[in-house]
Amino acid sequence: MSGLIPHTLKTYLTKKRIGDRIELLAGKLTDRYTGLEDETVFLCVLKGAFIFSADLVRNIPLNIPLEFCTARSYGDSMNSDGNVSLSLPPKRVLREKNVVILEDIIDTGCTLAVLKDKLKELGASRVEICSLLSKPSRRKAKVEIDYLGFEVPDLFFVGFGLDYAENYRNLDHLAVVIPSKKNS
Ligand code: PRP
Repeated sequence: MSGLIPHTLKTYLTKKRIGDRIELLAGKLTDRYTGLEDETVFLCVLKGAFIFSADLVRNIPLNIPLEFCTARSYGDSMNSDGNVSLSLPPKRVLREKNVVILEDIIDTGCTLAVLKDKLKELGASRVEICSLLSKPSRRKAKVEIDYLGFEVPDLFFVGFGLDYAENYRNLDHLAVVIPSKKNS
């Protein structure tokens, strides 16, 4: 792990707590979209949401396609400022569909604000947001979250899809990165 500052990890949410919450979110989405399968698409925002999405859709017994997109923001390294570059599925996949965006974390909200507008522009009939985590204290853009796992404080989280310079995405729980004190 070269290039990372010295740190330790502290468990914040266990695998069990996350799993229980995902089952609950999956139940809500199942109730909401039963009977609407043909006109609905799940859209996983890579990379961070890949584990959340995999666990969520496996708890939803409906035949709803799962699509993927990428969203990259161009601000400084810690903040997105609304300059978001998107790579989306073809328009025909999204047009006249209920699109449910699956995210790992909503921070400033800039990524989702841009993504939601773009999906509407491409003809999605309805866009809903399902996110495992939200950091409301960091919000810059107004985002309505339809299905939320956990509100979290402004700490640096890794695991369950979230990374620190591409490390730790594979952790089966959510942890906080704690910088080591100098001389310790
Ligand atoms: C994270 C997260 C969201 C975005 C949220 O992605 O998955 O897409 O940041 O930030 P915002 O609310 O401030 O716009 P990240 O850029 O870390 O990429 P990754 O998912 O590939 O790790």
